[in-house]
Amino acid sequence: MQVDAFKEEAYTIQMQYVPIQTSTLQSNVPIIFDVYVKIHEKYILLIRQGDDLEEERLKKLTKFEGQRLFILKSEMKNLKNYIGDLLDQTLETKLDDEDADNQDARFFTKGKGSQSNDFRDQTNPKTKSYLSGEKTGAVKLSPQMRNIIGQAQLEESPKEKLIRQAGVVRSVAQTAIDVLNRILQDPDSIVAYQIAAKAAKGIQKVLEANPEIITELYTDHREDGQPLLSHSKNVACLSALLALRNGLPRQEQLHITTAALMHDLGLVKMDGIEDSFMKPKEDFTGTEKDQYLQHSSKGFLLAQEKAFIPEAVCELIKYHEEDLSGRGPEQLTNLTLGQQVLALANRFDKIVLEKKLSTKEAIQHFSVHEIGNYDLKLIESLKKIVIGQKLVSEAWAL
Ligand SMILES: [Fe+2]
Ligand SMILES: [Fe+2]
Repeated sequence: MQVDAFKEEAYTIQMQYVPIQTSTLQSNVPIIFDVYVKIHEKYILLIRQGDDLEEERLKKLTKFEGQRLFILKSEMKNLKNYIGDLLDQTLETKLDDEDADNQDARFFTKGKGSQSNDFRDQTNPKTKSYLSGEKTGAVKLSPQMRNIIGQAQLEESPKEKLIRQAGVVRSVAQTAIDVLNRILQDPDSIVAYQIAAKAAKGIQKVLEANPEIITELYTDHREDGQPLLSHSKNVACLSALLALRNGLPRQEQLHITTAALMHDLGLVKMDGIEDSFMKPKEDFTGTEKDQYLQHSSKGFLLAQEKAFIPEAVCELIKYHEEDLSGRGPEQLTNLTLGQQVLALANRFDKIVLEKKLSTKEAIQHFSVHEIGNYDLKLIESLKKIVIGQKLVSEAWAL
């Protein structure tokens, strides 16, 4: 009984925190929330919002590279604002909130209540001071640190700049997936969805600027030890580029990329999923097969009950395992080009992951076993991306 009580308490505490990737914390944008690290199931305050982000503290952050840090769930809106500012500043553009506005329209028509278009938490004193321009609430940079960062960015070559931009976008995408996985079931998860929509725009912008940067966005699953997460990020980046290359409308491109970040959400709560996720379908046990068959519709239902998620995104999630041969859980044989883009990117990355192939080997496998399962021009596009742009190194293969 006591063990159960402890477990319950640990679960309650865990649910108060939201994970973020360490690399999402960049020193050139004010950090307007407290940051925690999880040590022996305890959440320890690592950076207090309002602290100076000095060199020592930056070193501290580097120590946790590749791991998750945490923020309080009550600070999600501040995280969203921080990510918006980080992307705007890094990509030197203004990623507007048109998606959020569209989602509002759907929200209103469904009569689920009223929402302001500005989701910044105006009642939170930290946000208030940040919005009013007072930096009292934000993590501050000393003039010396500002100089170091400014100087470093001045001295970088165009290629270095692009790599830095891609690094930020990649990390924001992973944080978006992590946050979605944790809180999509919550009623206030609109903020998580908005973070994902922002990340999708960041991916689109950076690929529009230079499609070759896909080599920095699509990464080796084994590098970061978070396969479910890196899979969703890889699928999002690959499908964004496929959608761009095949001339799909901008809004549809964004829907595909956002849906890709969320596409395996139906797997998150399933038992033992981390192991079975890495297995080829042929090796599934009975339970694993059932989980596989259900996960796309489970993810769809989860998304569909959120009035702020566009229907097109929900449907993309539902059909991400389908192909033209009817092998998917829904046994569809008729898919739109956009749905095929996501399904193809998902299948390709899954082959790399399950069969432990290099991307070059995976595209060879694809050319033999998947012809006819997707529109030929999409397969050709994928080949060009993998071979033409030397997508990741051959060192991937075991
Ligand atoms: Fe899936
Ligand atoms: Fe997937």
